[in-house]
Amino acid sequence: MITTPSACIQAEEGSVAKAVLMPGDPLRAKYVAEHYLEDPVLFNSVRNMYGYTGTYKGKKISVMGSGMGIPSIGLYAYDLYSFFGVEAIIRIGSTGAISENVNLRDVVVAMSASTNSNFAVQYGFQGILAPTANYEMLDYAVKAGQEIGASMKVGPIYTSDMFYNADPGLNQKLRDYGMLCVEMETAGLYMTAAHLKKKALGLLTVSDDVFTGEELSVMERQESFDEMMKIALETAWK
Ligand code: HPA
Repeated sequence: MITTPSACIQAEEGSVAKAVLMPGDPLRAKYVAEHYLEDPVLFNSVRNMYGYTGTYKGKKISVMGSGMGIPSIGLYAYDLYSFFGVEAIIRIGSTGAISENVNLRDVVVAMSASTNSNFAVQYGFQGILAPTANYEMLDYAVKAGQEIGASMKVGPIYTSDMFYNADPGLNQKLRDYGMLCVEMETAGLYMTAAHLKKKALGLLTVSDDVFTGEELSVMERQESFDEMMKIALETAWK
């Protein structure tokens, strides 16, 4: 029995790397560990939220599922940062295109993440805490993306608490304010990192278009995932 202050991560001390990649889906974390890391070892399976640590170009890197939505990623990120010595988390997720300039298969680097979530209220700010990426990581990710010729867009995104949004005007509003895309976790990750003085970055592949309903095929999803993974690994390695 391992004793840690974390209720949702049961891992040996030192078994988590300083940099963690976080897809939403724990089976995606397993896939990443098995296909992109060398010698992956499982460090967590509580609630089947698999976490693995392996190496990439000789450096220890971890990958763990975040679950869906701000409460889930907020909790896992908090525990990784607070109790397992994690310094940087890179969300590797999917997103729906909002901007006319964003296409299916693009990789979006999330500079900021506006949100309809109340998560930041807990910090007692006057006004609204602006959730932003760590600049060094963002800069490095952009360079890594340029190096492989990735079709990449960098800018503000929107983190929604609702996948099925009942407000028919919301998507147009998001477009009017320059949001590149919509997903459900990045703002929670950025706020948690800010609160704990840690680093975070959101990388997203565009899997669908919220205006046209167009979606990537399974094959296309895999190819654009691979491009995002190259950027994420290089950034985590740095
Ligand atoms: N909306 C919210 N989250 C998402 C979407 C979307 O269209 N696509 C992938 N994650």
